[in-house]
Amino acid sequence: MQIAIAGLWRDRAGRFAPVKAAGVALALYPAAVLLLRALAGDLGSRPITEAIHDVGDWTVRFFLLSLTVTPARAWLDMPKLIPLRRVFGVTTACYAGLHLLLYGADQGWNLATIASEIVLRFYLTIGFVALLALGALAVTSTDGWQRRLRHRWKQLHRLVWPIGVLGLFHYFLQAKSNVAAAAFHTGLFYALVLWRLAPRRWQSKAVALLPITALAGLATAATEFAWYGLATKINPWRVLAANLDVFYSLRPAPQVLVTGLVLSGVIGLRRWYRARRVVPVVAGGG
Ligand code: HEM
Repeated sequence: MQIAIAGLWRDRAGRFAPVKAAGVALALYPAAVLLLRALAGDLGSRPITEAIHDVGDWTVRFFLLSLTVTPARAWLDMPKLIPLRRVFGVTTACYAGLHLLLYGADQGWNLATIASEIVLRFYLTIGFVALLALGALAVTSTDGWQRRLRHRWKQLHRLVWPIGVLGLFHYFLQAKSNVAAAAFHTGLFYALVLWRLAPRRWQSKAVALLPITALAGLATAATEFAWYGLATKINPWRVLAANLDVFYSLRPAPQVLVTGLVLSGVIGLRRWYRARRVVPVVAGGG
């Protein structure tokens, strides 16, 4: 047990791994804040509902973070980041499990009601399927399972993409008529999918983030338009037009674009700073 816990902040050789430790601290932070808010009676009049929403949000955030590790390694040229993929992936599954537990608590632990609700309510059914798949990926994320499953491991772990679709659809369905947050997270997911589809030589280029996030922004606006047109009585054209009104408030599509702009700026600056710090090797010096 002690060894398993120490594995949270150590690398394969047993050395302290600061990046991994920081990832674990980040993973625990939202749960600690939620616990403190609960103890302080700061979760409003429906504390369990508030907790379900909070934990659901963090499930999606850690899910997206886990998918961002590979691009971040390419942009920052930092192979040390790779263990974070597993840390954030397992964290996603844990938060999804906690989300289900809180839902169970909200239903008074009546297992028959919980089961029938999950079967009968479509948004819960897809959430449940996503949760089971996340659990399977978390359990098989170890080196042992990777060795045992060989090439099938990669195939199994490609399930992250359909899991993302299910989780985000669950997010939209429960949000009903205000899908801004769901649309923004979906836009980030689109950007991550587009990054994977981009030619390999582009993947480490900061500037490639601009067309990627521009396309992801367009796809976000189209998704929102389709959602409001098909699932609500709100005029989708007004929502679409609001994307251009960037001085009033930023809609999800421009938010995705701004995220890409900021990220490419940060990566570009870091590269420029690192290039300046490299001491030129003078041929034949000394
Ligand atoms: C058995 C599995 C699941 C159950 C029973 C469940 C249940 C719920 C419920 C009851 C809500 C609140 C709905 C409302 O208040 O009207 C909710 C919201 C949410 N769920 Fe789930 N869920 C499950 C799985 C998942 C998974 C796998 C994810 C993410 C990948 C997820 C992400 C979310 C998000 C983001 C919200 C909205 C949070 C917000 O409004 O801020 N859920 N879920």
